Amino acid sequence: TQPWRVGLIGFGCVGQGLFDILNQQPEAGFSIARIVVKTPGKVRPLPSDRFEYDVQAVLTDDTLDVLVEVIDDADAAFELVAEALRRGRRVVTANKAMLARHLPELIRLQREGQGTLLYEAAVCGSIPVIRTLDAYFSTEPLRRLTGILNGSSNYVLTRMGEDGSDYSPALAEAQALGFAETDPTLDMGAFDPRSKAVLLAAHAYGAFLQPEQVLNLGIEGISAVDVAFAASQSQKIKVVAGLQRLPDGRVTVLVTPQLIGPESPLYTVDQEFNGVVIEADFAGEQFLRGRGAGGHPTGSAVLADLAALRQGFAYQYAKAAAAPTYASDLEVEIYL
Ligand code: HSE
Repeated sequence: TQPWRVGLIGFGCVGQGLFDILNQQPEAGFSIARIVVKTPGKVRPLPSDRFEYDVQAVLTDDTLDVLVEVIDDADAAFELVAEALRRGRRVVTANKAMLARHLPELIRLQREGQGTLLYEAAVCGSIPVIRTLDAYFSTEPLRRLTGILNGSSNYVLTRMGEDGSDYSPALAEAQALGFAETDPTLDMGAFDPRSKAVLLAAHAYGAFLQPEQVLNLGIEGISAVDVAFAASQSQKIKVVAGLQRLPDGRVTVLVTPQLIGPESPLYTVDQEFNGVVIEADFAGEQFLRGRGAGGHPTGSAVLADLAALRQGFAYQYAKAAAAPTYASDLEVEIYL
C-alpha cells in the first residue's frame, strides 16, 4: 500500500520530533508531503524549499490523507482544526491548551461531519493515557485519577532535589532540553497540566470543564530548601492532578503541589517523566509511566495517532452526553 501523505502544520519541537522519527522509520508508512510554518526566513534544520507558508493551501489539499497540527498558538490552532473537521478531514493535534478550551465544539464538529480528531500527544507525551481511558476503560466506572502531567515542573523539582539547584537554572535546563512551553509560566504555574487534567476529565468521566473551573497552583514559590525539607521526611514535592468521582456522582479536579511518599507509584516519577494512577471500580489500580515531554516522545504519540487513524480508530467519548457541554460553575466544587 501507498504511504499516507501527511500535511504537517508547525515545525517546532513536536513537528521536528515526528519528522525525525519518520525519517528513521520509513517502513512506518507515512511521508510528510507538505510542511507549513508561519515565519519565513527563520533558521530551520531543513532546506527552506521544504517549507511553505499558506496554510489554506494545505487544508484544502485533498491529496493529503491526514493533517498534523503542532503549532503553538491555541486560537490559530482551533481555527485550523475546526475548519479541517468541517472539511471532513482526519486531524492529529498535540495542542492541549486549544483542546481544553474547545473540546465540546470539536466533538460536535466530528459528530456532525466526517472528520476525525485524535490527540494522544496532548496529554502526558508518550503515555497512551487518552486511548486507555477512551477505549479500554470506556465501560468501567473510575473512582480516581492521580497524575503528574507536566514534565518541565517535574524536571525542575527533581533537579532541585538532586543537588540543591535553584529554580531558575533548573528551568533553563528544562527549556534547553525542549520540555518547556514557549511561555514557561504555563508549566511552572500549572496551567499546562490543568489543560491536560481537563482532557482527562472528559475521557475518564465524560465531564467537560472550562480550564478556569480547575484550581491550579504551580511551583514558583517552592525553593530547594522546601524540596530538601520534604526529602528529610522521606517525601517528594510533586505537582499532582487529582480527579475524583464523589459519591453523589459529581467530579472534582484540581492541580496542586503535593507531598508524595514512597507508598505512591508517583514517587518513582522523576525528571521529565509523567505518570498516571487510575483507580477503577472493577479493574483496581493501574499505573502508567513514561516520558511526558520532548520531541521524540511526543512525536511518537503523534505517530501512534496517525497509525490509529489508518486503522479507522476514533475516540468514543462513551461517558459523555450525546451533546457535550461545559459544566456550570454550580456543578463543579473544589475540595481542599
Ligand atoms: N511543556 C510540557 C511539559 C510539554 O513540560 O510537560 C508536554 O506537554
